[in-house]
Amino acid sequence: EPLAIGVVYMKFFVDTADVAEIKDLAASGLLDGVTTNPSLIHKSGRQMLDVIKEICAIVPGPVSAETVATDHKTMLEEGRKLAKLAKNVAVKVPLTPDGLKTCKALAAEGTMVNVTLCFSAAQALLAAKAGASFISPFVGRLDDIGQDGMHLIEEIMTIYRQYPHFKTEVLVASVRHTMHVVQAAKLGAHVATVPPNVLRQLFKHTLTDNGLKAFLDDWAKTGQQNAKAAATMTPTKQRQWKFWTDWQAWLQAKGSSIKPHKALPQHWNTMALGRSGTRLEATVNSRESRIGMEVYIDHEHSKAMFKQ
Ligand code: G3P
Repeated sequence: EPLAIGVVYMKFFVDTADVAEIKDLAASGLLDGVTTNPSLIHKSGRQMLDVIKEICAIVPGPVSAETVATDHKTMLEEGRKLAKLAKNVAVKVPLTPDGLKTCKALAAEGTMVNVTLCFSAAQALLAAKAGASFISPFVGRLDDIGQDGMHLIEEIMTIYRQYPHFKTEVLVASVRHTMHVVQAAKLGAHVATVPPNVLRQLFKHTLTDNGLKAFLDDWAKTGQQNAKAAATMTPTKQRQWKFWTDWQAWLQAKGSSIKPHKALPQHWNTMALGRSGTRLEATVNSRESRIGMEVYIDHEHSKAMFKQ
């Protein structure tokens, strides 16, 4: 469900208007939405309407696009124009009396609204009453002036929990580091909007990198077959191998529990799996275990050689 407003789980939005970054992060499958603001649009160097439309086509979840008018009437017109760009646009309005009035009007029309520049629990309470889909408290900017940004999240979560009919999600914004994200999750915040570099840091741990390297080094020492080992095999070993010219017959001989993980063509000479020079490599999966199989093509004698 692309617009899963009100569903309680920790969502990750990316705080950028850089389309290349968004595409890259969306490929991780862990990106739930995007937030932009006038500063980020300026940084992108692109026309706002173009870039928002493009982002909305990449990410199915909410994409925040900010109004720049300060009076209710103009802000409402602007918000309606932004909302027309795509159904996953969330119109961003500032936490001012005109902003909240606009929030209420847009929410009544069924538009998602993200109320931004929130720095107090009282402001967050007003945004929920105005029907906002999201409230954006800026934790990093509070930290910057010596206040505790995460304490504000704690206060807002406490207030919102008292009123289960509030549909507003707490979108932790102005995130500076991974600990902000972890603390936000501990408090049960619904969303964190995170700069691309911080989003990537969430994946990282030195012990993961070191551990993986050690495992792979030890695996290589076992001499057991993998793609790397196969690549270093000498042609003399080919003598031991059986010759096959028909995939289907080979698979049938192995029993019906073995299913090719790709649709395999009947004749070897039309295969094109993992071709490297004159060598092809293929893998079939059985229910019990994974069977690795190397496939070599002997062009001279028009034959395929398989080794299980
Ligand atoms: O998009 C709003 C907010 O996340 C901005 O963050 O880093 O400019 O304080 P920042």
